[in-house]
Amino acid sequence: MTLLPEIQEIVKSNIEKISWSSTLARGLYDPIDYVMSLGGKRIRPSLLLMSADAFGANPRDFVNQALAIEVFHNFTLLHDDVMDNAPVRRGKPTVHVKWNENAAILSGDAMLIKAYEFLADGMPADKLPSVLALFSKTAREVCEGQQLDMEFESRNDVAESEYLEMIRLKTAVLLAASLKIGAMLAGADEDKADFIYEFGINIGLAFQLKDDLLDVYGDPDSFGKQVGGDIKERKKTFLLINAYAKATAAQREKLDALLAEDDVDVKAVTEIYDEIDVKSICEAKMSECLDKGLAALAKTELGDRAKQLENLACVLMDRKV
Ligand code: IPE
Ligand code: IPE
Ligand code: MG
Ligand code: MG
Ligand code: MG
Repeated sequence: MTLLPEIQEIVKSNIEKISWSSTLARGLYDPIDYVMSLGGKRIRPSLLLMSADAFGANPRDFVNQALAIEVFHNFTLLHDDVMDNAPVRRGKPTVHVKWNENAAILSGDAMLIKAYEFLADGMPADKLPSVLALFSKTAREVCEGQQLDMEFESRNDVAESEYLEMIRLKTAVLLAASLKIGAMLAGADEDKADFIYEFGINIGLAFQLKDDLLDVYGDPDSFGKQVGGDIKERKKTFLLINAYAKATAAQREKLDALLAEDDVDVKAVTEIYDEIDVKSICEAKMSECLDKGLAALAKTELGDRAKQLENLACVLMDRKV
């Protein structure tokens, strides 16, 4: 069994080895080098390799497929930061700020293509059709989620169930697919691969709930993104939806007025969140998702081999970035 630090080292060293260059079109590859070298938690490739390992494969055999997932994830970030008007990512200016929006779009496009190149590179031929199908379905679902996320900005009647479906699509399916692809590559039984996918969906939901929480309550010195960005963009996060659901008439009126301003007052909205204690409601939902995830993980019958995945899921709930 390969321990998590070793898996993380495999991911890190292989990301560093990626050569994007071509002497031509440096302008296309510089933003890619930039964003990929800023780090990040590298959760998704680690999940893929941990899952492959847990199901009995050698994770070193599937490094390219893990890289595919991380490059795809970073592509979504370049486009997401344009859509969300985000100035900072991983503690540094976003690509569209450092370069421009066209750079974020086109370098992002090149990353999406490169993700497919990595995915196919060295993949056993018998696995290619099914893994490719899952990867493509997942990539399109992420786009669906991102579309809903944007549409919700201008709606005031987003239900919690709609929000949960939106984050399932924009975030959870990629964590789930990472795990399932690892299982598929290791030749796991179909039902086991489905259970690990279900684990991934539930920890993915909790992961995005935590992301929403950090967007409001993260430490500006270590978070690496702009605190309050979701409030500024009128994102229909779990926090905002539950604040409205639990607000008194006076609090609701105040929220309406605050969100109608051109420049939303982040501090004032946060004060209402604090009055209602939406943080606790969000944390309760996160543990509900985590419990469901762990129940699905137990069904894989991986026993001790699932322990690392379980630990990582718990660590992600307590993360600061
Ligand atoms: C950010 O993902 C986008 C979300 C789905 C919340 P991560 O929080 O995994 O970002 P990095 O890769 O660690 O920077
Ligand atoms: C991002 O959700 C989901 C994807 C990138 C697909 P967010 O917009 O909340 O992610 P961050 O907070 O910018 O990382
Ligand atoms: Mg964003
Ligand atoms: Mg977004
Ligand atoms: Mg966010």
